[in-house]
Amino acid sequence: MANRKTSEPSRDIKDRYSVLLPTYNERENLPLIVWLLVKCFTESGYDYEIIVIDDGSPDGTLEVAEQLQKIYGEDRILLRPRAKKLGLGTAYIHGMKHASGNFIFIMDADLSHHPKFIPEFIEKQKEGNYDLVSGTRYRGNGGVYGWDLRRKLISRGANFLTQVLLRPDASDLTGSFRLYKKNVLENLVERCVSKGYVFQMEMIVRARQLHYTIGEVPISFVDRVYGESKLGGNEIVSFAKGLLTLFATT
Ligand code: GDD
Ligand code: MN
Repeated sequence: MANRKTSEPSRDIKDRYSVLLPTYNERENLPLIVWLLVKCFTESGYDYEIIVIDDGSPDGTLEVAEQLQKIYGEDRILLRPRAKKLGLGTAYIHGMKHASGNFIFIMDADLSHHPKFIPEFIEKQKEGNYDLVSGTRYRGNGGVYGWDLRRKLISRGANFLTQVLLRPDASDLTGSFRLYKKNVLENLVERCVSKGYVFQMEMIVRARQLHYTIGEVPISFVDRVYGESKLGGNEIVSFAKGLLTLFATT
């Protein structure tokens, strides 16, 4: 059970935050991100669980996750692995099905998304009772650190093209540090067709179509130190396909 503080009357006692952490070869990063998450939730007093969705990482990420589960407890760390690499979009869907929280955080496990922003997401959500709160690298104090020019151009280009074609009116369409009301996430996921990285973009476009309210929190995205990005040429092609499909069908 949660050891939440009873001296915090402003907090809705039933709110629980499920954090979905998709992993593929994140052995070095996982202990640190989990430690930071536990620290952040413990200090802020919000109830939480962390769901690790590992896709059969050959580097032994799952074994590391099992160790972390022993350290922090089975009520805090849930393991929902899949046998092989089936893509980022479906990893979130898989994790979501096992979430017990009424709110769901989606974030990367490679420390590019720092848990220190989590209280800001939660406060922003409460401030406007937003259906979703999106971390943005492209507004306010947000930013990207450590990417080369190629990667910056890919991200900016993807955002620019999507803005022009679909006008979703959000400043970061491809980012993946977000907080959703669980029922909103479920509803959106049902309508989304994409499986890979393009999923994030489709989610926010569909959220606008359904007139869900979107809050934004500036975040800094810091490129990973350990391991490699899984974004390759294939993902760029499927992004372009996804974008055109959305353009043609909405
Ligand atoms: N389970 C699972 N299965 N996890 C995966 C898979 C997969 O097929 N592919 C990637 N991941 C995990 C990684 O282990 C990491 O925790 C997270 O998903 C993001 O993957 P990265 O490979 O680190 O992505 P990135 O840094 O290139 O891309 C980031 O920026 C993009 C553009 O803003 C991510 O935040 C993307 O979601 C984002 O679209
Ligand atoms: Mn990354």
